[in-house]
Amino acid sequence: MHSAPFSVEVSVTSLAQENEYISNLDPLKADQLIQKVPFLNLKKDTIELVLLLVDIMPSMHEIHTFDKYQASAAIRDIGFLLGSLKRHQVEPVNIIPELEDKMNLLGDKSGLPPRDTLLHYTVWNPTDSRRRTYTGTQDELYLIDSVVVAMAPLVKCIILLRKLHLTPLNSPEFKAICQEIFTLFEKVIEGIVMARRKVSPSYFANELRFYFDPITLNNREYLGPGAVEMPMFVFDHLLWSSDCQDEEYRIFKETYLPYIHPEMRKVYHEFEDKSSLVSKVCRLADGQIEFNNMILDSLKSLSSCCRLLKSFRMPHKKIAEEAYAHTKKPELLSDKNEHIQRNHGSGGYSTDILTHILNLTNQKIEMLDLCISNFQAPDSGRDMSRN
Ligand code: HEM
Repeated sequence: MHSAPFSVEVSVTSLAQENEYISNLDPLKADQLIQKVPFLNLKKDTIELVLLLVDIMPSMHEIHTFDKYQASAAIRDIGFLLGSLKRHQVEPVNIIPELEDKMNLLGDKSGLPPRDTLLHYTVWNPTDSRRRTYTGTQDELYLIDSVVVAMAPLVKCIILLRKLHLTPLNSPEFKAICQEIFTLFEKVIEGIVMARRKVSPSYFANELRFYFDPITLNNREYLGPGAVEMPMFVFDHLLWSSDCQDEEYRIFKETYLPYIHPEMRKVYHEFEDKSSLVSKVCRLADGQIEFNNMILDSLKSLSSCCRLLKSFRMPHKKIAEEAYAHTKKPELLSDKNEHIQRNHGSGGYSTDILTHILNLTNQKIEMLDLCISNFQAPDSGRDMSRN
């Protein structure tokens, strides 16, 4: 943990402890009952799913006694029933109207929306025999694991990027932090490699993905726990996008902001309307600092950090495109509206958003690389200032 200039303190250790603590909780005494969910989903038994939901649902009085960790564990377990019912076209609140007040209170207590998020589904989901799933399939278990392996390293990288914002380019520490990010981010990429190897694209597109559909509460939709809720956009934000003017990407980031961990949200807000790292270093390299090799090393290391995003986004886009290529043809579907749903991710976006974000990432990498070559070009103004 570093001190002072930041208004927010985030500790990776405390987040890891929080994950373990919430995973171990079972405030609804649902450990056994929740294991029925995959079987009920296979049978499409919505009546039993509703009964199970009613069974585990805490009273308002109980919810008032919960702390934020118990509230989070309760939302996790209720969430498996919400997503399951929605997958079978049942809007939960239409069957259980008191759901709204209860989920609102649980959401308020946990500092998150009134339904389950990716955090509940993955890092707050217990392991082994207590693991909660919608289907119990290996594909789903691997999908959860692929996010779990990526999440903590991504959070560490974000915290390191914050530190980089305060580190002078002209110091060996800058390159050292970039190298740390580089090593950690390999784990994030590992998550994608695992999903590519272990999750069948057609099973994802035609089955798993529907458990992450939005549900209605408070007369609006709340998104389901898709991997799109990873704080990858916070990493982008600090590195290259806090001052990016692209409206589509700004809307994308703000759509998912409420669904990420409150600590990550604070980091996001801290850098809102501030220069990104790439813009900052480009401004510096563009005439404000004397050439030296240490700065050049720092700039090159930052460029390597940006390229990490490409190494994540290119294979991920491939997975997403492959999955959506496996969606059933509209003529094979009984409900034509399903076709529209099937071609969009859990956030309601098509895979075009992935191309768009990748293009923006590439533009920023090009901009940084141009700064680097100007910085070291022998016949530039910079070089003359060295003489
Ligand atoms: C079968 C596996 C997967 C498929 C088909 C898939 C598909 C998609 C789609 C269609 C989007 C667009 C947004 C939306 O959901 O509406 C998206 C976004 C995203 N997904 Fe996945 N995904 C998969 C696995 C993963 C995994 C394992 C991770 C992380 C370890 C991940 C991380 C992300 C992120 C960070 C975004 C936001 C866009 C970006 O930052 O580039 N996805 N995904």
